[in-house]
Amino acid sequence: MTHARKNAEARTSIAECRLDFPALDQDISGHPIAYLDTAASAQQPNVVIDTIAEYQRHDHANVHRGVHTLSHRATDAYEGARDRIRSFINAPSRSEIVFTSGTTESINLVAQSFGRPSLGSGDKILITHLEHHSNIVPWQLLAEQTGADLVVAPMNTQGEVVLEQLYELMTRDVRILAIAHVANALGTINPINEIIARAHELDIAVLVDGAQGVPHMAIDVQELDCDFYAFSGHKMFGPTGTGVLFGKESLLDAMPPYKGGGDMILEVSFTNTTFNELPYKFEAGTPNISGMIGLGAAVEYLESVGMERIARHEDELLTYMTERLSTIDELRLIGTAAQKASVQSFMLGDIHPHDLGTILDHQGVAIRTGHHCAMPVMDFYGVAGTARASLALYNNHDDIDQLVAALEKAREIFA
Ligand code: ALA
Repeated sequence: MTHARKNAEARTSIAECRLDFPALDQDISGHPIAYLDTAASAQQPNVVIDTIAEYQRHDHANVHRGVHTLSHRATDAYEGARDRIRSFINAPSRSEIVFTSGTTESINLVAQSFGRPSLGSGDKILITHLEHHSNIVPWQLLAEQTGADLVVAPMNTQGEVVLEQLYELMTRDVRILAIAHVANALGTINPINEIIARAHELDIAVLVDGAQGVPHMAIDVQELDCDFYAFSGHKMFGPTGTGVLFGKESLLDAMPPYKGGGDMILEVSFTNTTFNELPYKFEAGTPNISGMIGLGAAVEYLESVGMERIARHEDELLTYMTERLSTIDELRLIGTAAQKASVQSFMLGDIHPHDLGTILDHQGVAIRTGHHCAMPVMDFYGVAGTARASLALYNNHDDIDQLVAALEKAREIFA
């Protein structure tokens, strides 16, 4: 049994999992930390930190290149992480798990390698109003490069994609639909099963931005039948600079490499290069070895806690947080979709979100403030930014009570 499994199975309740995260065992400005900023970046459990340290101390070497013992150990651990991640999202094959630096790189890879060679004038790229900048800008660049049109499906005041209009925009000239599983600024869960099925009726490929989905719910890419699913390690308790692109093998096979360099080739001469098999064709250069090994440990940790258990816990906490926030005078909830995960944005009176974030920090409460890399969403609500509290498996009612008390204090200060 590995450390990750031992750690989490020793915990009889999900509440005890908090003890696995050393960063949560500290005071900020004389208050116990209430970390409510997981949507920006999750804290890491001991097992991730220890796995990386152990690897760095004893097993580090380059992967896929050496005949010596350390290189074998590094390669086994790195490729072991790929197997674990494949099984975590139930991808049919390890060839379909491309390691990247994060969701942003995964989406850029698809835009440039799937989109750029095949799109042209008269084609459309479909996104929604709810997207993070990393699921907007790569498509804008692609539209400029190819002459394709970028089309945006609208949202409603609850913060949901207007499905009827999304479906009307799904026409035969749409080549790809890129859509968040969970919208980062508002927490809206898009009904992607239904959306993917509709898109496929018209042969539209679908990329799902899963950065805010994977940490909070069980993902089965075969059941979703998405063509691409992109996610980041640091939002799921792994290291920064790690990410994954799942892509259907038939699509990845037909796509040219995204970057050139070592490891992605079979043979190189000055006149011709043949490329490596999947997934290595898309992994040029020495990768983030320790990071991906750490991500493998994070996945094992999540599995041992149980994704269904995590989703239930966070649902209950989100309901509690929304109810508590609703009791605060002058607090306006931003994003009230029927299906939500782990995130609540809000405004308090006319207090600037950055001022609010600073006052909360003085009371040990960490939230994110600003536009959340989703400026079009902010424009929709007519605000420059919001305050956003986001939840993870390690949060509890005390964190939310501390948030509410800090917000009441902010009201007093600004009264
Ligand atoms: N995408 C990250 C967030 O939503 C940074 O905060």
